[in-house]
Amino acid sequence: MAGEKRLAILSLTIFSLLIQSTSQTAHDELKANNFPIGLLPTNVLSYTLNKTSGDFSVNLGGTCKLTLPPDNYLASYSKKVTGKLVENKIEGLNGIRVRAFYQWWSITGIKSSGDNLVFEVGMVSAKYPSKNFDQMPSCQGRSSASA
Ligand SMILES: *[C@@H]1O[C@H](CO)[C@@H](O)[C@H](O)[C@H]1NC(C)=O
Repeated sequence: MAGEKRLAILSLTIFSLLIQSTSQTAHDELKANNFPIGLLPTNVLSYTLNKTSGDFSVNLGGTCKLTLPPDNYLASYSKKVTGKLVENKIEGLNGIRVRAFYQWWSITGIKSSGDNLVFEVGMVSAKYPSKNFDQMPSCQGRSSASA
């Protein structure tokens, strides 16, 4: 009897893990739009995308700090990242900041251009090879429960 109960709990756990992993479609959506999956950390809790307008919202469950390759820039993700996904372009981005030159800069847009990604910070832009973002980064030092 106790064994059966434990089995039931175990299968419930596996079931909820499966549900969580299907919510990783935010990364699939990036791929489908010629963006590398590494633009979002592993712990996406939920996400919405309006396929008509391209408006999206990604819920990371908490703020997230991580180090971006190859120059080890410190990046900070808000709990909620929003923007608009149009062909090969993310516009009106909100919720991703990068530390450079002793300041935090909000990344306002990202363009996918051939093998490169162009990050826009207001009027300024910086180009990086897309392959630097092939791996999904994990958050470092999260205060809330880690995924
Ligand atoms: C999706 O975007 C379209 C165009 O902006 C809008 O008309 C529609 O109401 C949106 N749908 C949802 C579910 O927000």
